[in-house]
Amino acid sequence: MMKLFAAVLILAAVVNAQMTCRLEQPRMPVEWVGLNDKNGQCLEEMRKQIQMEINASNIYLAMAAHFSRDVINRPGFAEHFFKSAREEREHGSKLIEYLSMRGQLTDAVTDLIHLIDVDVRVDSGADALRQALELETKVTKSIRNVIKTCEKSPNWYHLVDWLTGEFLDEQITGQRDLAGKLSTLTKMMASQGPLGEFLFDKQL
Ligand SMILES: *[C@@H]1O[C@H](CO)[C@@H](O)[C@H](O)[C@H]1NC(C)=O
Ligand SMILES: [Fe+2]
Repeated sequence: MMKLFAAVLILAAVVNAQMTCRLEQPRMPVEWVGLNDKNGQCLEEMRKQIQMEINASNIYLAMAAHFSRDVINRPGFAEHFFKSAREEREHGSKLIEYLSMRGQLTDAVTDLIHLIDVDVRVDSGADALRQALELETKVTKSIRNVIKTCEKSPNWYHLVDWLTGEFLDEQITGQRDLAGKLSTLTKMMASQGPLGEFLFDKQL
């Protein structure tokens, strides 16, 4: 019992401690990075993109919480948006890992990433899908913007290729999926009314 108490005390102290690193940063060679970024524009666009993915993740988490409420009770929609929130967080992580791989994860990126408060209001399942599709359309446009900016910075070919091929691919597939869901739900509600949403939720 005493041991457990001591362990809890130590854990509390650790959690309380500020996460500051007291080790001096080593002097590292920089030639291996081999990148130059015109006025830091590409990096700034990447930073904004990371923030946007985190914003999207939090928005989807709020939507998932809405559909999870006992008085709303749409488990299909809730599961869909919990999954979306996890995916968006994963996108943010992937971008951070990419910058780390290229030796570009500087204070200018990490100090400016915020976990945000969101103000999300949804009236119905169809409304949530419509908002999600709108958000994803903005995200796609923003990724295109990162590509355009980074294309002009010398040596960012690999990033541009990765964003264009892999990253954007998932983005447009996701948009098509949301559009398809919204189309089906709208048709079901036109013929069945509110029962349409209930049935749609069951097959999500
Ligand atoms: C993220 O959300 C915050 C708060 O709503 C907003 O101020 C900020 O502009 C958003 N950032 C991006 C990149 O969308
Ligand atoms: Fe995303």
